[in-house]
Amino acid sequence: VRNLYLARHGETFHNLENRIGGDSDLTAKGLVQAQSLAWHFRETPLPYVFTSTRKRTLQMAELLCRGREDCLVIPLPELDEIDAGVCENMTYAEIARDMPEVHEERTRDKYGYVYPRGEGYATLRERVERGVRKALYLSGNAENIMIVGHQAVNRTILSHFLYRRTEDVPHIYIPQDRYFHIVSTPSRKVFELVKFG
Ligand code: G3H
Repeated sequence: VRNLYLARHGETFHNLENRIGGDSDLTAKGLVQAQSLAWHFRETPLPYVFTSTRKRTLQMAELLCRGREDCLVIPLPELDEIDAGVCENMTYAEIARDMPEVHEERTRDKYGYVYPRGEGYATLRERVERGVRKALYLSGNAENIMIVGHQAVNRTILSHFLYRRTEDVPHIYIPQDRYFHIVSTPSRKVFELVKFG
């Protein structure tokens, strides 16, 4: 793979409420973001688009590949968003109000914190790396691949190529109207944040 394009799903109904986890649909704005991404890539070969198993990434990829013959969508459970365990489908405000200990401990160590009956950034890493390895294997010698992921997943993927300090990883900016273009060979490293919407 020469070019790894790393995008996040567009806006969801959960995003509008600051609600985490779950399996929310894209909003009208999210669908427009998906169409903008498709337009941006209309002349770029995209033989493989990897997603999670969540609707928001699948809807994004489906619009991206619509009407294209060269574009195969492959969902990988390894790329699913961080499992927030008992906090799935809650808003950050609800967590702070109803589970103040979760809020406090996570604020103290966002990278190391593991949600009760869920995951944390530190434990997510292994599964996401497995997903990326699987994607690279399945795409063989394709020049380009796209991953449509999630906030915590994309932070983890970026940190694999780019960031070193683990405490910074949960704070990397992962917008919904830009993608990362990553080239990572021994002789050439490129990380470009490109606006498409
Ligand atoms: O829980 C889902 C979020 O996308 C991850 O964001 O780690 O900043 O809470 P957060």
